[in-house]
Amino acid sequence: MGGSSSFPMISIPRNRVFVVTGGNSGIGYETSKWIAMMGGHVIIACRSEIRAKEAIEKMRTDFAEEKSKGTKGVITEGEIIVEFMQLDLASLSSVMAFIEAFKASGKKLHVLLCNAGLVHELEFTEDENELMFQVNYLSHLLITIKLFPIIQNSGEDLRIVNNSSLAHGYTNFNMDNIQGKKESFHAWDYYSKSKGYQILQMYTMNRKLQRKGVSINCINPGIVESPFHRAHPRGWMSCAISCSSGCGCTNAQSEGGAALIDAAVNPKYEGRGDLYISELKVKSTKAYTRKRENQEALWKYSMEKLSKYLTEEDMAIFDHEK
Ligand SMILES: NC(=O)c1ccc[n+]([C@@H]2O[C@H](COP(=O)([O-])OP(=O)(O)OC[C@H]3O[C@@H](n4cnc5c(N)ncnc54)[C@H](OP(=O)(O)O)[C@@H]3O)[C@@H](O)[C@H]2O)c1
Repeated sequence: MGGSSSFPMISIPRNRVFVVTGGNSGIGYETSKWIAMMGGHVIIACRSEIRAKEAIEKMRTDFAEEKSKGTKGVITEGEIIVEFMQLDLASLSSVMAFIEAFKASGKKLHVLLCNAGLVHELEFTEDENELMFQVNYLSHLLITIKLFPIIQNSGEDLRIVNNSSLAHGYTNFNMDNIQGKKESFHAWDYYSKSKGYQILQMYTMNRKLQRKGVSINCINPGIVESPFHRAHPRGWMSCAISCSSGCGCTNAQSEGGAALIDAAVNPKYEGRGDLYISELKVKSTKAYTRKRENQEALWKYSMEKLSKYLTEEDMAIFDHEK
């Protein structure tokens, strides 16, 4: 990690704050660890305190090992700063509690990494949303809107990155079937849709916000051998993943954070928004994600779904759309 084909190892100020949802596992774990080892102050927002604390312990062990190897770019003074905050994206009341706790902490927030996600058979949350729609997309949107004023006032080079996927290209956008229905549900299709929603949201927010000093981008991390794949439901995507793994086309978990870390820290992305960075290269997204009518339809639907939680003050930041 950190080589020429990966993200640059940069020196991150110790008071630069990063929130990584799902930072206890897989891509989120690697991302949190490397950003902390470059000096950043990382908050991992996770649903299990036990798993999060175990992850932080492991990060400390990994850090000691990298330091003893003399890995270039890793901080040489002090400990890594990684903290846990409680967040269950499958519950909007938990998401609101996280938002309130973050606001109450008085911390700045320079980089928000919307990473947590899952693929799952049809299930509905307590908020009556299809699970992947809410965990992968809607709850992250609520965090993004609510914490936006803090991010905007945190200083320079402010970023929001959604961990999307190449999978967004293997589905389409259908307003009539935006959340799963029993008769037509396929887990990988709805997973792919949720990854497409993250991209549609990126375009909408960048347009509505006129950036306001905050860049919103999406990444595709590539196929990463993380716990994500061990839990996946059967289907054509699982066959594709097994084949890719067999021919060595997947990334080991230790390499899997590269794309997200790069989008979070690489100086070349400063001030740039609407990027889809697929395995470290800027690429274009599928046509349906770039259609304004789809972006607006999803936005309207999402605002209705979140209406209970959004105030006039929250929405005031969107006043300047051209
Ligand atoms: N792996 C790949 O090949 C691949 C490819 C493209 C995109 N991605 C995307 O990369 C992201 C990270 O995946 P990964 O491969 O690192 O998988 P992972 O190791 O399974 O990590 C997923 C993370 O999401 C968290 N999470 C799941 N449900 C949650 C909830 N309700 N509330 C809060 N956190 C929740 C998990 O927490 P627990 O540990 O508590 O379960 C875990 O920390 C996902 O968004 C995924 O869609 C992965």
